[in-house]
Amino acid sequence: MSSPQDPPSKITVNNKIYTTDSWFNTPTKILESTTRKLHLQKDHPISITRQIIESKFPSPTFKSYTSFDPIVSTAENFDSLGFPPDHPGRSKSDTYYINQSTLLRTHTSAHEAQLFRASSSPGYLISGDVYRRDEIDRSHYPIFHQLEGARVWDRSTVPNGDIVAAIYSDLAKLPTHNVQVDDPNPPHHPERNPLQSEHHTPAEAEAITVHLKRSLELMVVEIFSRAKQAASRQDPNYVDEPLKVRWVEAYFPFTSPSWELEVYYQGDWLEVLGSGVSKQEILINADVPSQIGWAFGIGLDRIAMLLFQIPDIRLFWSTDARFLKQFTGVEDNLDLLKRFVPFSKYPACPKDVSFWLRPSSAAGGDDKRGNVHDFHENDVMEVVRDVAGDVVEDVKLVDEFVHPKTGRRSLCYRINYRSLERTLTGEEAVEMHEGVRRALVERLGVELR
Ligand code: DAH
Repeated sequence: MSSPQDPPSKITVNNKIYTTDSWFNTPTKILESTTRKLHLQKDHPISITRQIIESKFPSPTFKSYTSFDPIVSTAENFDSLGFPPDHPGRSKSDTYYINQSTLLRTHTSAHEAQLFRASSSPGYLISGDVYRRDEIDRSHYPIFHQLEGARVWDRSTVPNGDIVAAIYSDLAKLPTHNVQVDDPNPPHHPERNPLQSEHHTPAEAEAITVHLKRSLELMVVEIFSRAKQAASRQDPNYVDEPLKVRWVEAYFPFTSPSWELEVYYQGDWLEVLGSGVSKQEILINADVPSQIGWAFGIGLDRIAMLLFQIPDIRLFWSTDARFLKQFTGVEDNLDLLKRFVPFSKYPACPKDVSFWLRPSSAAGGDDKRGNVHDFHENDVMEVVRDVAGDVVEDVKLVDEFVHPKTGRRSLCYRINYRSLERTLTGEEAVEMHEGVRRALVERLGVELR
């Protein structure tokens, strides 16, 4: 729906040529951003966050990969990880496609199978930019960054073939910490979160779990201790609350059992990562059936927002020196880590747009966000982003109406225009809004009210 008009049949991204087809739905601005690599830009908050996490997974046990191409196959992003064919993540409304079998990776897990296969170290880390069609607000951006990690042990090479003993011996080499950990759920659940009993003995699954949990707790303690140090250095009234973390049962197609780790920070429980015991099928398909282990994935942007108190995710993309200068030197000395000092809050220009969906989109099943048939809210987000770019702070559905006689559906969105770098003039906002209105008609076939 929101794919650019007349998509080119060949496109070049980072010197590689791709043939597009009817699945192509990636705007030029998104393709151009694949060169930015914020996770590798020295002293950028995303890169500093990556570095803090990497420091807890040292080489040679862990080998770090930072430059895999973000354009991958559907086989890498979904099939190799056991995503079912009808998984919603595969839809064009959620994912940017180049063609039917090529997409912008939606997570760094896309590279797991290839690294398990290469098997060049017992552990690995992958950091990179990932892409998802999504809503627009202060914590969502269509490009963000993830860091993936995994650790395996090999039945055929551990001393005496005793993999459980090998894992506990590695566990004993990890430091301890004194942060309170709640682990209220049973370690696994027979239906919801099963052990892979055809592949792992209970003792093996337990050993992997204990090693996973300690490793990831140590990482999270490091991040949040640094956040607290920065806060207490800068704010004389800072009240130190003890850190708390908890493990919550989760589901991912490529791990079982699976968990999320949540951290209690400044009054809220925050979900910080997904993790689990890697599905043995992935290792078997990667020709390393004698290996077993764990994996996790963590989003860097939200962590960096917390660590540096950055109020809006769009700031990461700013090239304004008033933003970037604040982090100079931190990468070489993490003890210099400071909270971001906002340079200004420019005025907001909220504007509403109301439209009727095409009759074909109006009937039948829907959900709370006005998604029906061939209409998806993410298409509105994409049009707004394409026309107005980073000047939009958020877009919210504020009203919805079904005509009692015709059954046609009308939606009203409030678009909040606010630059992070300067004051928008009234005229500029009006002009952008006009552009958005025109593009909604042209690309989504809606009728303005
Ligand atoms: N790829 C998952 C996501 O984007 C995160 C994740 C969960 C990665 C569990 C993992 C894992 O490696 O084991 O939501």
